[in-house]
This record gives sequence, C-alpha cells and structure tokens, in this order.
Amino acid sequence: MAADGPDVQLAVKSGSHERDAAPDRRDPLQPTDRVLGRVVACSGARATISATLESGGASPDAWAIGKMISINLGATRVVGLVYEMRAVKPVWEDNSENAVHVEVELLGEVVEGARDKAIFRNGISIYPPIGAAAHRIRAGDLAVIHDLGARAGVAIGALTQDSSIPATISIDAMLSRHFALVGTTGVGKSSAVALLLRKAIQARPKLRVLVLDPHNEYAHAFPDAALTIDAAGLDLPFWMFQFEEFSDVVFRGRPALDDENDILREVIAMARGRYRMPANQDISRDLNATVLKRPLDPGAPRRGADGAPIPADLPAPYRIVDALAAIDELVGLHEARFPRASLRSLKVRIEGLYADPRYQFMFARANMIESMAPVVGHIFRIPQYGRPITVFQLAGLPSEVVNAVASVLARIAFNLAMGSQGGYEILLLCEEAHRYVPSDHALGFAPTRQAIARIAKEGRKYGAYLGVVTQRPGELDPTILSQCSTIFAMRLANDRDQQIIRAAIADASASTINFLSSIGNREAIAFGEGVATAMRMRFATLPPAELPAMAGSTPEGGPRREPGLEELVSRLRGS
Ligand SMILES: Nc1ncnc2c1ncn2[C@@H]1O[C@H](COP(=O)(O)OP(=O)(O)O)[C@@H](O)[C@H]1O
Ligand SMILES: [Mg+2]
Repeated sequence: MAADGPDVQLAVKSGSHERDAAPDRRDPLQPTDRVLGRVVACSGARATISATLESGGASPDAWAIGKMISINLGATRVVGLVYEMRAVKPVWEDNSENAVHVEVELLGEVVEGARDKAIFRNGISIYPPIGAAAHRIRAGDLAVIHDLGARAGVAIGALTQDSSIPATISIDAMLSRHFALVGTTGVGKSSAVALLLRKAIQARPKLRVLVLDPHNEYAHAFPDAALTIDAAGLDLPFWMFQFEEFSDVVFRGRPALDDENDILREVIAMARGRYRMPANQDISRDLNATVLKRPLDPGAPRRGADGAPIPADLPAPYRIVDALAAIDELVGLHEARFPRASLRSLKVRIEGLYADPRYQFMFARANMIESMAPVVGHIFRIPQYGRPITVFQLAGLPSEVVNAVASVLARIAFNLAMGSQGGYEILLLCEEAHRYVPSDHALGFAPTRQAIARIAKEGRKYGAYLGVVTQRPGELDPTILSQCSTIFAMRLANDRDQQIIRAAIADASASTINFLSSIGNREAIAFGEGVATAMRMRFATLPPAELPAMAGSTPEGGPRREPGLEELVSRLRGS
C-alpha cells in the first residue's frame, strides 16, 4: 500500500431490516442508518463482523483497515480496531451485494460515567454477543479514548482517523520516563523531534535540552530557542575527558594495549600533580563545586591537600606540556619502568593531536580555562539566556572522537542533574542513537553506552531525561529502548525493526503494529506512558522556519545556500 495514499476504503451498507442494538444519543443530523455490520464471531480479544458491501462507490460510513469502530451494547460501547477484511466468497459480484468479514481487535470500552461524561477503559467487561451491531465510532468516543484526563495534554498533531480530534500527549510523562522515536529515513522523525522539543520547552520552562546532532540539521529548527555549538566554536578541554575517553582519543578509537594505558594513566596523574591553580580562580566557583562535589565514581579519592598525584579520572585541569615532560622523565629514568619505545610513541601521538587543527577544540584554549564551570555553563545553558536548547553539531568533529565527545556530554548531563539534585532538568536527545548504544556490544564505545544507560536507568530521580531517535531500532541496545516508556513509531520497512517495536508494546494492541510498514509520512503510532491509549496520529505541520534542515540546503529543497568560508573550512576539516 502506498505510504501516502488514501486508506483502502470500502463502502459498507447494512441490511435494511437492522436496527441499532441500543438507544443511541447521536447527532440527529447524522444519518440514522449507521449499522456497519453484525458480530458473527467473538473470541476474548477479537471479533469478526459480517457486513455486506455494495460494489463501487464509497459511502460516508466507509471503514478501513486501521480505523476504530464501535460495537454498541447499550451499557458500554466496545471499541474495535479493524485489522483485516476479506470477502466471504473469493469472488466479487459486480451487480449485487457482497458479503465480507471484517476482523477487529477489541481494545476496550467506552462507558457513560457520572454527569454524562463518557470514559474509556482498557479491557472488556461485557463481550459483544453474536448479532451485536457494529457502528462507525462517534467522534466524541474517539476523543474520550485519547483523552489524558487530569494529566495536562499537549496537542502535537491530529488523529489519523479523524483530523478534527487533536492528538495529545503528556509532556511530563514523556520526558520523565524517557522516549523514543523510530522510523525509516525521510518519514519525518527529525521534524517530529523539532515539534516535540518546542512543546517540551513551552510546557517546562526549566527544562534544558542538549541535542546530539550528527547531521547538523537542528540549528535551522530553533533559530530563536537554541544555541548552536559547532566544531569551530566548541571548547571541550582535554582535561575534562575521563581517562577512558581521553585514551580513546589518543589511540584514535583502536583499543589501547595495557602498557599504553598504564603509561597514559601515570603521565596524566603526574601532570595533574604538577598543576597549580592560579590565584584568581574562576568566578563561577559555585557551579564548579556542584559538579565536582560528586566525583564521577563516588568511591574515587579526591585531590589530596598535600599535592599528591590526583587520580587520572577527576576532571581537574592539567597541562599538556607537563604531560609531555612527564613522558621525557619516564624515558630518562635509569631503571626503565616502561618500554622506551612505547613512551616515545605515546609522546608522538600526543604531540600529533596537539598540533592537529581538527583537535583544537580540545587543546587550543584548554589551559586558559581553569575549571569546568564556563564550559558546562556554556553547553548546558546556565544561565539559559532565553535559549534552553543546545544544538551540538557533531558533523564537523573528527569522526574518531565523536564517540568520546558524546560520552563526555552524556556523562556531564547526568552529573549536572544529579549534582544539582534535580535543580537542573536536562533532556539529552540522541539522534542516530544506535551509533552510541548499538545492540552489538562489540560495536560502539563502552563509556558512551554507560553514560547513556545511566541516564536511562537512574536519570529520572534527578531530572535527567533521554530521548532516542533511530531509523534502526533493531540495532539499538534493547535495554535502552526498554527504558523508553513512550514510543513514537513511524513507518518501519524492515521486519526485524517492526518486531522490536512489537515486542516493546506491552499493553497496546498488537494489530496496530501491523500497520507500521504502511503508515504515511509524518504519521506515527504513539504508545506508552505519554499517551492515554495507543494512537495513530499525524504530526502537525511545522512552518518551514521551524523545520530541521541539512546544513547548506533549504528545507523545501529550494536553492542551496552558499556556505560561508568558516563553514566551508570546518566542513573540510570534518571530512
Ligand atoms: N511535521 C512536518 N511538517 C512539515 N513538513 C514535514 C513534517 N515532517 C516532515 N516534513 C517534511 O518531510 C521532510 C523529511 O522529514 P525529516 O524530519 O527530515 O525526516 P527523517 O528525520 O525521518 O529523515 C522534511 O524535510 C519536511 O519537508
Ligand atoms: Mg532525520
């Protein structure tokens, strides 16, 4: 079925002898002949409805795969979702009525509550008897099914079945229990993210968002609400990297040999021991205290007052010249503790990095910055200055350090939320999340995985939230996906990916997921904590100025913008 095409629609006409099974308070202007068919079979979770179809012509009562219908039982209205239809005889009579069987999954029931207010319940208290009439569902019932009740609902689009009914989600539930957005390339994931982030910062003015943007596309979406950090404007001093992260950079993604790591650890510890804080310390000492107060590893020893070597894992500054000098000293030792060849090769590596223009974000100004505070404050918008979102463009960075940088950022995000005891609420949004937390543990980078997993598992208590976006849910670590309590599933072509999502839905209807391969662009099936009931919806249209766009192109595919010299150079550096 064409993704954007209209749903397959069949005209349904009920037999003229039929009457509604129960009195029905409907709009008197609506046609009274609304019985679509009759229940002819019912199992616990499913029912078959028999109907007759006229050949040709759609009627206003058309129903279609993916739509909800209602089976009116008087006290309750059972809600069914159409997932299969077939003609009873495997032939089609052109000039007469044809009998069809429509398979529906029973989702729940609408009951009239107090003061005429209808409510929807999952599960069925009264099963439809054989012969019960199936109707087109009322707009009011559809609204009730997706109503969030006391939880404030924020509209993000409209229901596919009835575009007059807003699709609402609970931003609080979506954030605090993490969320995922999955779908094939081009279905509208990034645009949906832009929409969700806008809604999130409106609903939670205290929220800060860090977008890991591997395609440099989000700056375009938030000209007013985001600060964009690109490779040229980034300062992420090397001394803020944890040992494993720094080692990953130094050895450029290849696993370091034991020897090499031992040397690097020793050298960094020696350099840290030699570092003297200048007298006029950084002004934002408070923040520094918040972040540093809790060491990354709670058991890690702190800086000794006697200037003893500081563990390589504490993000205290040191100087590269001191590290290089330390290597020289180790080389010069009478009784060599490490192979001299390894020492020299490490020195060459560090010197190479230090001189490499692509690594200037780690080294150029690293020793003009005396504490983490200005760096953290800049990246995490403290203070916000009216721009709660940081778009962190990864595309300009050398590809071999992207993982280490993502690790540093995810780790700081968690520590900042934890250190501030929820004072700073942070949402880390990972585009192409399967790159950082791949299902195959042999791929990816362990510290990045740890840092992201930590947010997923413990972030909630401290106000650190995770949003993951991927076109390959099958390649995303299932433990991360299982921590995402709200999922927006957009079109997925791949069977395995569909299966993953099917498995992730505990409560919602399994049939809904069967549509994943055929739903249209910008459509999603949203389920989990953030919604009242699994809903098939279409994201609202974003104005061009709020759409993400690939750097250098306009969202409408219009004329390409000429990149500035700076941008061009940074792209060359990145490649
Ligand atoms: N909500 C939307 N409003 C307006 N246009 C959209 C919307 N969603 C998608 N589009 C259009 O579809 C294109 C592809 O969407 P995009 O979000 O980049 O998809 P994905 O991230 O899944 O590859 C966008 O450039 C935009 O033109
Ligand atoms: Mg995208």
